[in-house]
Amino acid sequence: MKLPVWIGTSWKMTKTIAEARAYIEHIATAELPAGIQPFVIPAHTSLAAARDALPAESPVLLGAQNAHWGPEGAGTGEVSMRMVGDAGARLVEIGHSERRQHHAETDETVALKARAAVDAGLMPLICVGEPVDVHEAGEAIEFVSSQVRAALGRLSSTEVSGVLIAYEPIWAIGEHGRPATPTEVAPVVSELARVAREVSGGVGCRALLYGGSVDEANAADLLLDANTDGLFVGRAAWTPEGFLRLAAIAAEAAGVP
Ligand code: 13P
Repeated sequence: MKLPVWIGTSWKMTKTIAEARAYIEHIATAELPAGIQPFVIPAHTSLAAARDALPAESPVLLGAQNAHWGPEGAGTGEVSMRMVGDAGARLVEIGHSERRQHHAETDETVALKARAAVDAGLMPLICVGEPVDVHEAGEAIEFVSSQVRAALGRLSSTEVSGVLIAYEPIWAIGEHGRPATPTEVAPVVSELARVAREVSGGVGCRALLYGGSVDEANAADLLLDANTDGLFVGRAAWTPEGFLRLAAIAAEAAGVP
C-alpha cells in the first residue's frame, strides 16, 4: 500500500439527517489516527447536513453515492455533479454494482460520469467488480480490467492519476456476501494497478481500494497486499464506533504510530 491508507464508508440507503449529523459529530470529536485518509459517503439527502456538522479542519472527505453526467435541467430524480459538489461532496462514487445491477448503470454511463466528475472538480471513485459466475469461471481479471478501461476512457492520462478505483466483487458485497480473501483480491488488484499505470502514463491512479464485507476481523489482512491502498466499507462502518475502529486498524496496518 501507499500512504495515506484510504478508509471510507458509503452509508448507502441509510440515515436520516439527524442520524447523519450524530455520526459526523461523533467522528469529528474523536482523534483520527495519522496516515489515513478517511471518507464518508452519505445519501444525497444528508450530504449537506454532514458537511455542516464537519469542522473545517477535519481530514474527513465527504462524497456522493451517485450523480448524473449531464448539465442541470430536465432530469427528474437526478442530481448533477455541480449540485453534489455544492452540497459538500469532494468525491463521487460511480458505477457501484448496486447501481449497475438495479439502476441501469453501464460502462458508458460510468465513463460519462467520470468525465463529468473531473470537469466539476470532484474526485471519481470508480467501482468495479465481477459477478459470481465470472469469478467461478476464473475470469475476474479480464472482467474488471475491461470495466476499468471503459470507465477511464474519457479521461486524459493526467486525470487518471487523480482517480480512486474500488475493486468490489459483487459476490462479496452485502449481508449475503462472502468477503474475498487476500489471495483472491491480490491478483485482481495487481492487474488493476497495472492497467491504471498503463493508461496514466506510468503514474497509476490515486489509490486502489478493496470493498465487500470488510470488517474488523479481515481489514488488517486485506491491507497487507502491496497494491491495496485502502478499504471501502459498508455495514461495518455504519456506526461511528465501527468506522473509528476500522480507521485505527488501517493506521496500524500502515505502520503509522
Ligand atoms: P459491505 O461492506 O456492507 O459488504 O458493502 C461494501 C460496499 O458495497 C461498499 O461500497
